[in-house]
Amino acid sequence: MAEPSPVGSDLAAPVSPARVIRATAVLAAPVALVLLALVGYAGLALPHAALAFVALVAGLGIIAYRHATALEAVRRRIEALSRDEPHSSKEGHGGMPGSAFGLAEAVAELDRTWSRGRDVLRSVSAANAAILEAIPSPLILVDGDRRVTRANNAARALFGETLAGRDLDTVLRHPDVLEMADEYLAGRPGAATIDIAWPGPPDRHFVVRFAPLPDAGPSEGFLLVLHDVTALKQAERMRADFVANVSHELRTPLSALLGFTETLRGPARDDAPARERFLGIMHEQAQRMTRLVRDLLSLSRIEELEHTPPTEAIDIRRVVGSVVDTLALQAKAKGVTVEVDIAEDVPALTGDADQLAQVLQNLLDNAIKYARTGGQVRIAGRKTASAPARVITNAARGRGQPLPPYWVSVAVADDGEGIAREHLPRLTERFYRVDAARSRQLGGTGLGLAIVKHILNRHRGGVAVDSEVGRGSVFTVWLPGGRP
Ligand SMILES: Nc1ncnc2c1ncn2[C@@H]1O[C@H](COP(=O)(O)OP(=O)(O)O)[C@@H](O)[C@H]1O
Ligand SMILES: [Mg+2]
Repeated sequence: MAEPSPVGSDLAAPVSPARVIRATAVLAAPVALVLLALVGYAGLALPHAALAFVALVAGLGIIAYRHATALEAVRRRIEALSRDEPHSSKEGHGGMPGSAFGLAEAVAELDRTWSRGRDVLRSVSAANAAILEAIPSPLILVDGDRRVTRANNAARALFGETLAGRDLDTVLRHPDVLEMADEYLAGRPGAATIDIAWPGPPDRHFVVRFAPLPDAGPSEGFLLVLHDVTALKQAERMRADFVANVSHELRTPLSALLGFTETLRGPARDDAPARERFLGIMHEQAQRMTRLVRDLLSLSRIEELEHTPPTEAIDIRRVVGSVVDTLALQAKAKGVTVEVDIAEDVPALTGDADQLAQVLQNLLDNAIKYARTGGQVRIAGRKTASAPARVITNAARGRGQPLPPYWVSVAVADDGEGIAREHLPRLTERFYRVDAARSRQLGGTGLGLAIVKHILNRHRGGVAVDSEVGRGSVFTVWLPGGRP
């Protein structure tokens, strides 16, 4: 022991004096016996022997104290490590006695290595947790007892905040899911997916993917990922409905044409008045199919352009004027007067003139069709500060763009039969009609308002309906103003 011991005050490792004394006594006992023997048999003077003994005890005491302190410090450090307690780096170096066979330094080094490992582990697991949370699909970890051990944000949003610890049975109560869960708990290898319908409202569809955890036996549980395919299923259904609707719309005029051609070739071959009448009906049916095909083509073209904003500068007065001219004959035939009132301050707009003419033509056509005979239709254009909430939501739709500084509204009001409240939300659906037979009889395809909606979507505007049965309807077009 050449150097003074660095037993540090900061270490403050209280070593019990009894322990030091005991150790010293054990170490000193053999020497004491030898000294006694020397006094008894070899004539060593007792005072000399006593002096030697005292010196020996003092030396051994210092050594025992130092070792006990160092070992105590090492013990404390190991204890702290096993409890995963943080500690200062100062303690790691200066506080540790430099002896005790280098044990203290070795432990300190081990501690540093471990703490680096722990830091890496912590940051990896924090990153994993962040990734798990950010995944938009609901993700659930299930343990060997079929209990949820972890769930990400999306899963909690779907099944509620208190997911952890619940039996899967109470979270996703679906026979196919539970059956598959049991298979995985019994050790089924590999991943598997199943489709489930989740009764609403609103009804939803999920593809559920099961996967065992890597490097884990069946008792460790498995992972569940849900993929929401509701929108996909809906689109599939809409497409199927659409095809069915189009086929249905075409079938009636086609079978009429077939029937009349057969009659004309057979029984009515020589019946001139019947022939005239049948040809008239056939012409009407052919026109009906032409209108349907025209509207369908128009709709698909509009959908194609829906995400390309229009750029033309247009004057709404001129658009309204030309539409009114186009339908003047039709209005006159029904004795309907059309009144136009566009306010002075309505400015020019950015839009697609042809498409906006199509919008107004559809609305005016409906208004005339459904107006009273001899009734009145009013078209009013206004510049306003705001629009109905639903139109604004539609205009801002996920694009994070600033709202327009003002709006231009064009209202088409008739004094016809009006529309019952329950029909209003569905009017812009394709082929939706309050009275299908009546609409067909009036030459309608049921696509007019769907076309209106899509054109206004492209203009980032909207259409609002206000109607009262027996009093008439007001269809108002909203267009954002002040855009370059
Ligand atoms: N001004 C109106 N008054 C009463 N009902 C209307 C009016 N406009 C539209 N409708 C109803 O909305 C349905 C859908 O309109 P639309 O898509 O233009 O199809 P249609 O080809 O029948 O005109 C119509 O069938 C009719 O029932
Ligand atoms: Mg119409």
